[in-house]
Amino acid sequence: MRVRVSLLQALRKRDMIASVMNRRTALSLFAAHVAASPLMKADVMDQDVNGPINVHEFEEVAKRKLHKLAYDFIAGGVEDERTLRANIEAIGHWDLVPRVMVDVTNVDLSLELFGQKLDSPIIISPTGGKDLVMPGAEEIVAKAALNSKTLLCSATGAKKLLDAGEPLQWWINGIGQPNKAAAVNFAKRTEDGGGKAIVLTVDNAYQSNRDRNNRNRFDYGMMRMGPPKPGEAPRKPINPAKAAMWLPHTPNLTWDYIDWVRSASNLPIILKGILAPEDAELAVQRGASGISVSNHGGRQLDGAIGSLDALPDVVEAVAGRIPVLVDGGLRRGNDILKALALGARAVLVGRAPLWGLGAFGQPGVERVMWMLNAELKLAMALAGQPKLSTITRRLVRKHVA
Ligand SMILES: Cc1cc2nc3c(=O)[nH]c(=O)nc-3n(C[C@H](O)[C@H](O)[C@H](O)COP(=O)(O)O)c2cc1C
Repeated sequence: MRVRVSLLQALRKRDMIASVMNRRTALSLFAAHVAASPLMKADVMDQDVNGPINVHEFEEVAKRKLHKLAYDFIAGGVEDERTLRANIEAIGHWDLVPRVMVDVTNVDLSLELFGQKLDSPIIISPTGGKDLVMPGAEEIVAKAALNSKTLLCSATGAKKLLDAGEPLQWWINGIGQPNKAAAVNFAKRTEDGGGKAIVLTVDNAYQSNRDRNNRNRFDYGMMRMGPPKPGEAPRKPINPAKAAMWLPHTPNLTWDYIDWVRSASNLPIILKGILAPEDAELAVQRGASGISVSNHGGRQLDGAIGSLDALPDVVEAVAGRIPVLVDGGLRRGNDILKALALGARAVLVGRAPLWGLGAFGQPGVERVMWMLNAELKLAMALAGQPKLSTITRRLVRKHVA
């Protein structure tokens, strides 16, 4: 009888334990499910600058936080966005062939470029319209560049820091001036203001045809004023985006511009937006100090070649006479490593820091720049490349489909 009772008790206990276990298991399964759900992931990612684990996730957060007009303005390309995609696809046209048994205890990202000592070959590319993200964004990005020891290329935003004697490394960006007097004035002001190079954007003759902006009834006036605020009365249009609008920017820019600047300043002149090897040759002949292979992040001529597809021919044409830089689609350290292996001395990143800015403001930009540098350093280590100078064309091969 006693045996039967204790057996019964044991069975009940087992059932109780089983039911507790089941509840526990169920609870923990539920918790894991909630944590993995896109909603929870978004919540964690959106609140902490250390939440996103890569540039792609910074973009996800920025997309959730930004006005749709602003997100589309930044993310978008031109027309069917073939070139926007081509930049990403071009990175996939190259495979890394890493070396091993090399001492990579220390990996050094530093370099000298146009006489300037840089901590890293990753430069912040000029991006107009930052105020769509937040007011005062140019200065915020400049502070982030200073804190993350990143060379900044921008049209504005650096003045206060340079006037205060901060060691910000800054290249000015412009689309050129219509005559020699204005170009001379611009060059002198830049030199006096502490700019260390002039980056002339050469692919911006006209406002390009950006379908997303046209569809969103975007107003280019918002690049200064920011997107409409909730509840705000409709604004008077300033410069509304229209399909295939004919809006000249610098239609009369020619190679003479280099002579104009040279007559007034010794600053290096870097031409941003070269894709054809013929133009690379002309740039060298006409006295450019450097060129940047770029299709403006797929934002000017749709159908233009992807940056890493264009880079090898340009590097060959230049044949080491001046430094070649590149931008377009670079989101990972290993993308950048491929660009360097294809002959770029340094790279520029446009959208990546903007995603940091849109997600978390200044700390977001700093985090993105830190992340790209850390990823590049690790990629170099794993590819057996302790210094930038050890990276050669042998590190990449054309991808075989
Ligand atoms: C929102 C935005 C604004 C830009 N504005 C300029 C500009 O004013 N001048 C310029 O030369 N390039 C401009 N660009 C192009 C970038 O400098 C750079 O060439 C391009 O973004 C690189 O591609 P990535 O965004 O894939 O890194 C802009 C790009 C974006 C995304």
